[in-house]
Amino acid sequence: MTTPDTARRSLDHWSEAGRTEMEAFYALATEDYRQLADARDWAADLRDHTLDGRIRLLDVACGSGKFPAALLKKGLPSHPPVAVDLLDPSGFSIAEARAVLRTPFAAAGEHELFLQDFRARGAYDVAWATHALYALPPDQLDAGVARMVAALRPGGFGVIAQACARSHYLAFYEAYRAQFAPEVTPYTDAEGVDAALRAAGVAPQTVPIHYTTGSADRGVVEGFLQRCAFDSTVSLDAMESDGPLGIYLAGCRDADGAYTFTHETHLMTWESR
Ligand SMILES: C[S@@+](CC[C@H](N)C(=O)[O-])C[C@H]1O[C@@H](n2cnc3c(N)ncnc32)[C@H](O)[C@@H]1O
Repeated sequence: MTTPDTARRSLDHWSEAGRTEMEAFYALATEDYRQLADARDWAADLRDHTLDGRIRLLDVACGSGKFPAALLKKGLPSHPPVAVDLLDPSGFSIAEARAVLRTPFAAAGEHELFLQDFRARGAYDVAWATHALYALPPDQLDAGVARMVAALRPGGFGVIAQACARSHYLAFYEAYRAQFAPEVTPYTDAEGVDAALRAAGVAPQTVPIHYTTGSADRGVVEGFLQRCAFDSTVSLDAMESDGPLGIYLAGCRDADGAYTFTHETHLMTWESR
């Protein structure tokens, strides 16, 4: 294989060297987390899963902490305190997420590893993975999701937010793969996560969240799309050339050249038995 596979690309780009690209991505993708923060009464979810006056939270594939940042921006009560364990194979991500946390969140444990390799059982009141599992290879998804399910105590609260197959991140990566990297592993989608949860004995409640992001600024769009592919070597002009990706992007562009990307995130929640 000449091109690094998807999991390797993810790890390479969630790094200090990938910071500029990450920041370009979040010019548009911060909206993913604003939408999630608005989707539920998260303060009630945290309060309802308090044990002994505190909450032990596992943030799976914590990235740069955009979800806790969105919750803090919207406002959370200062009590009960939330002790956050950060799990991610990228030490860069763990450091970025840790820097975001403030009351009621406080950094606790750090687990620099892949979810598939995590071994905690019944240790957490809440576990969430928000736009987090795309680079987890589909053939390892059952194992990874089973680890997350097992990490919750009985009565604990699980959350996975993941875009579905027709949503931008998945549709874009399929078209990118077809045009530029057919040998790399596809992203994991919400449908795959749902099947993995069911294989682990969980029937999640699922709420679809529909929204769009976009920009008329080609520099912003190029930075966002390059991060969507973990590939900063392909320009927007090249992406727009003839082929599956060119066709996909033509469908996202209006007559003036402005881009709109269509998202459908499945917010899956469950109570642990
Ligand atoms: C888009 S970020 C997650 C964003 C995060 N939920 C937030 O609130 O900002 C994806 C993260 O998944 C991590 N990751 C990739 N593969 C993983 C795996 N198999 N297990 C756990 N984390 C993984 C990456 O290192 C990256 O930090």
